[in-house]
Amino acid sequence: LLSELLLCDRVDSTNAQLLGLLEQGGGHGVAMLAEQQTAGRGRRGRQWLSPFSGGINLSLGWQFSGGVQLLEGLSLAVGVAIARALEEFAVPDVRLKWPNDVWCRGRKLAGVLLELSGDLTDRCAVVVGIGLNVGLRGDVAAGIDQPWTDLHSVRPGIDRNRLAAALLNRLLPLLQSYPERGFAAYRDRWQQLDQFAGRPVRVISTRQQWSGTAAGVDESGALIVDSNGERRLFHGGEVSLREG
Ligand code: ATP
Ligand code: BTN
Repeated sequence: LLSELLLCDRVDSTNAQLLGLLEQGGGHGVAMLAEQQTAGRGRRGRQWLSPFSGGINLSLGWQFSGGVQLLEGLSLAVGVAIARALEEFAVPDVRLKWPNDVWCRGRKLAGVLLELSGDLTDRCAVVVGIGLNVGLRGDVAAGIDQPWTDLHSVRPGIDRNRLAAALLNRLLPLLQSYPERGFAAYRDRWQQLDQFAGRPVRVISTRQQWSGTAAGVDESGALIVDSNGERRLFHGGEVSLREG
């Protein structure tokens, strides 16, 4: 269940705020929504643009009794939950891009950022952060260095508050049941929504690059890429996926 709902006009980052609560031993079932983030963050120190009332900036804190291995694949399962919520509002052509993006018509509509706290062996806590573009002004978004979209462009008229509620209604049971169900319960659906399935891709790390054909994800959520008859697995933390 949700224990508290925090609504803010402006914060640095809803993920940073929730992480702070978890580190003090609180934050379980606490959700925060902010109209604007001044230091919205993506993976590996990248920035998430979140101008005033431009989207949904949502974080939810959750504590688990058990080690971090229980959370394998969780960020992909969150993508499935977001896709289902968007489908409730008849958003067309929703796809998932490994590991943490929600795309619509070949452009990034939303991103997921999971951040961990706790000792990670006996107990762990996670902040699930979701940034979803509702109406981004072009001038504000000029700094985004990849194709992006927003709900106003693909399905205008959706009530942002109702969509935020739908997201929370999907996230709560997901977090509640995840240690027991794991990624296996989400894998088929994830693969049906896979933006790049069967397509040529490049996987990029800081030091190296691999080319091949995207072949879905394994039971842990690792990306499978076939390249010259060889099958390679990639895990979320380390690499980025690009088309071509
Ligand atoms: P990866 O595949 O490694 O996840 P990514 O480019 O999606 O790569 P993230 O860290 O997941 O990187 O997301 C941050 C990136 O998202 C930024 O570098 C920027 O390109 C893009 N971005 C930032 N703000 C927005 C936004 N509001 N909407 C869409 N894209 C954004
Ligand atoms: C990504 O694609 O890299 C993930 C972006 C996640 C952005 C959300 S907005 C709410 C929460 N607070 C943050 O600072 N980041 C996440």
